Amino acid sequence: MRWLVTGGAGYIGAHVVTALGESGVESVVVDDLSTGRAARLPLGVPLVRADVRDSTTMRELFRRYRPDGVIHLAARKDVAESTAHPLRYYQDNLDGLRSVLAAVAATGTPSVLFSSSAAVYGTPPRSPVTELDRTAPENAYGRTKLIGEWMLRDAAASAGFGWCALRYFNVAGAGAPHLRDTGGTNLVPRLLQAAARGIPATVYGDDYPTPDGTAVRDYVHVADIADAHVSAALALRHREIHDEILNIGRGEGASVLQMIDAVAAALGHPLPYVTEPRRAGDPAAVVASPARIRELLGWRARHDLDDIVTSAAAQPVPETQAA
Ligand SMILES: NC(=O)c1ccc[n+]([C@@H]2O[C@H](COP(=O)([O-])OP(=O)(O)OC[C@H]3O[C@@H](n4cnc5c(N)ncnc54)[C@H](O)[C@@H]3O)[C@@H](O)[C@H]2O)c1
Repeated sequence: MRWLVTGGAGYIGAHVVTALGESGVESVVVDDLSTGRAARLPLGVPLVRADVRDSTTMRELFRRYRPDGVIHLAARKDVAESTAHPLRYYQDNLDGLRSVLAAVAATGTPSVLFSSSAAVYGTPPRSPVTELDRTAPENAYGRTKLIGEWMLRDAAASAGFGWCALRYFNVAGAGAPHLRDTGGTNLVPRLLQAAARGIPATVYGDDYPTPDGTAVRDYVHVADIADAHVSAALALRHREIHDEILNIGRGEGASVLQMIDAVAAALGHPLPYVTEPRRAGDPAAVVASPARIRELLGWRARHDLDDIVTSAAAQPVPETQAA
């Protein structure tokens, strides 16, 4: 079995490609290396350096490799940037998906797995949030993910492929040093980068309606996320699922201050922080119900918060990123 993985040189994508390989599934990676790194890929995995928005190239790649399916991870993912430059996000995230879906339809590719996000919920009506709860994204990034799910459903209804949108909650940790998250936007790498530079970490907002006033999220280990992709890809291929939207989270929340404590414990020293006002587009609390993915795919998170933080903290931290 062979899957095409867009964004496969990225943080999550490289974990997915590694997990596919460990399950005996071949990958071909398509990545423009805008934020990804070729060094993350296992030996022998082909990397095609291309922009997924280039429809002609994408169609040619699908014709050349004839994959059993595509896992589409390539996207921009910075919420703050999406608020400052919304049209960049609508263009890049949606045009990339449109181009992939056009190639899927043109070549009769049977399956599509799409990286969606908990950002589609905005501030959920209840916690934990299920896939049947209302969606109300609070930033342009989240809206591109929700529109992406609509695009998938419409394209699948017309072309007949099977699809699954995976709504990741907050992905963190690392399966191996070279696979770690080197971006400067997610909380755990931001905390580690602040510690490495000897400066205080920044907490955005301490007046949320949560137990300690800081925002609560559901942190899930990237290796667990990768396993969920393998299970979903196999289930799609064997027609055990056909059109699904699935949360991937642990079903437990942690606040920013709890994450600071966890990182401090992993590093063995306190982590000072400063508080700034809330960021636009940041909901108070977002925690997944993982009941449906457990029921359909038998998936459950194997790693707890300690595993997540310890695996991330064990990595050398890049010094050039802003905290
Ligand atoms: N990290 C999280 O917590 C999280 C949560 C929810 C959803 N997601 C989604 O998961 C996916 C992967 O995220 P990540 O954290 O690995 O980010 P990442 O930036 O590490 O990975 C994205 C990859 O896509 C590539 N890419 C971007 N635009 C491209 C284009 N136009 N053509 C070809 N390649 C392109 C980048 O080079 C990179 O390798 C994204 O779709 C993101 O929105 C991430």
